Amino acid sequence: MKTTYIGHSKVCFLVSLFLCATVLLNISWRQRDSSQSLLQCNSTCSHKYLKPKLKEAHLTDQHKKWETFRLNTKPASGTGQGYKHFVKEPLQIKDLFIAVKTTKKYHRNRLNLLMQTWISRAKEQTFIFTDWEDQELRQKAGDHMVNTNCSAVHTRQALCCKMAVEYDKFVLSDKKWFCHLDDDNYLNLPALLDLLSAFSHNTDVYVGRPSLDHPVETVDRMKSDGSGPLKFWFATGGAGFCISRGLALKMSPWASMGNFISTAEKVRLPDDCTIGYIIEGMLEVKMQHSTLFHSHLENLQRLPPKSLLKQVTLSYGGPDNKWNVVRVSGAFSLADDPTRFKSVHCLLYSDTDWCPNHKHKPSA
Ligand SMILES: *[C@@H]1O[C@H](CO)[C@@H](O)[C@H](O)[C@H]1NC(C)=O
Repeated sequence: MKTTYIGHSKVCFLVSLFLCATVLLNISWRQRDSSQSLLQCNSTCSHKYLKPKLKEAHLTDQHKKWETFRLNTKPASGTGQGYKHFVKEPLQIKDLFIAVKTTKKYHRNRLNLLMQTWISRAKEQTFIFTDWEDQELRQKAGDHMVNTNCSAVHTRQALCCKMAVEYDKFVLSDKKWFCHLDDDNYLNLPALLDLLSAFSHNTDVYVGRPSLDHPVETVDRMKSDGSGPLKFWFATGGAGFCISRGLALKMSPWASMGNFISTAEKVRLPDDCTIGYIIEGMLEVKMQHSTLFHSHLENLQRLPPKSLLKQVTLSYGGPDNKWNVVRVSGAFSLADDPTRFKSVHCLLYSDTDWCPNHKHKPSA
């Protein structure tokens, strides 16, 4: 009798221990989930993230649609590495579509410098995406100024709105490469052509500078096969990035005709993060990490002067950190050229008429 009683209490004790452990484990898992579902982003991606609430069904449907499309358009070889037959092609400036994102308040102090420097060498390829019908800029840029009609406030929604217009305009163009830049970037055109000519625009290429040293991770959005959290890299928009035409067309279900804005709303990510989400997360195409792109968030003084002219993009610190500029012993003093862009430009194009000691192009 006594032994049965002891046996019973032992069983009861073990059962309650088990129940307690289950409850505790459950609580800690929940806590872990909710802390991870806030996307781990910083820098450009440092806006206050709300917990991503995805309407799974919608994206999954689009994903399935794309999967069907992709399976049906596999190269005949069927090896899965069907891109081998694409040959490297000589790339020219005319093959590029360059989008510069700006806003009303920077038309004068930022854009004038860009138009005086690198844009003057790629006028036909460069489009300025802004939020204000500025007559002065319209006169200078003509139909290369695009009034997106997006809001001029610096919010996630307004930035995504501009990216959506950029994407649509590129798709309608016949260009091979889409490159996005901010209005504080210097674009080194020869270096860009050099970089992009290593790829074919028919293959899936997404190249830029990762803004974090680890991929963005979201638990709420699981991989389509349910095998774990969705992780993806993205190129920081402030340093500029490029996408091949082949890949841009595949992004269409999530990016074209207003879909970019709804995708960004669903994942609650800024414009550049959303691009990474579509390419790495949805299309499962790996981003090409490049250290040749630079934003104002880096320490630009650390760039070795020797390799300066090999970089694809440069930037400069704003009025808050004027010292953050590239080191170049160029034609202009820091007072005459606080961003250093004019000095860099004169090193790249010594035939520019406003460069001191400019060399005329040898007449043929
Ligand atoms: C912005 O609005 C103007 C005037 O309504 C229109 O002509 C233009 O096409 C719009 N821009 C875009 C990108 O839709």
